[in-house]
Amino acid sequence: MAILKIARMGHPVLRRPAEAVADPTAPQVRRLVEDMLDTLADAGGLGLAAPQVHVASRVVIFHVPEGRARAESPGTAAGEPDPEDGAVPLTVLVNPVIEPLGEDRNLAFEGCLSIPGMTGAVPRFSRIRYTGVTLEGETVDRTASGFHARVVQHECDHLDGILYPQRMDDLSTFGFVEEMRRPPPAAEAD
Ligand code: NI
Repeated sequence: MAILKIARMGHPVLRRPAEAVADPTAPQVRRLVEDMLDTLADAGGLGLAAPQVHVASRVVIFHVPEGRARAESPGTAAGEPDPEDGAVPLTVLVNPVIEPLGEDRNLAFEGCLSIPGMTGAVPRFSRIRYTGVTLEGETVDRTASGFHARVVQHECDHLDGILYPQRMDDLSTFGFVEEMRRPPPAAEAD
């Protein structure tokens, strides 16, 4: 049980592909995941990938809380519900693999514990299938859409050395959360 230091954008461990885990049921993998859970709970994010705690292994954890507030995202109507957003319990995935289902993508704001204080609008596949292995060695095989699909794509990108700004196609939407929340300037009255 330990809260680990989170690597920030630019650190080499975040810029290279992580290694596949030979035995997902090994005790050291469970210890790593327990520390990642402590770290995520402390930091308050939705997900964490092992490279973010300086371990170049293909392990991610994530969850989607019930009623996730979209008001956090600049450019999104406050509290606007996404019909595809449902709660996802805390999930541990070792050696995850993502398969996009169709070409549809959607744009929404993301943040990352490795890029503290920043946010940006990122295109992601709207529907995916993902597979992986649990700490018990059981296979997870799910289809996901909406915010669930987005979180999985974000976390798995970390395993390939990719951070969300590298997925953005409009860097004018990348900025500090506090600044991006400012209302646009009022129209000039004549
Ligand atoms: Ni991240």
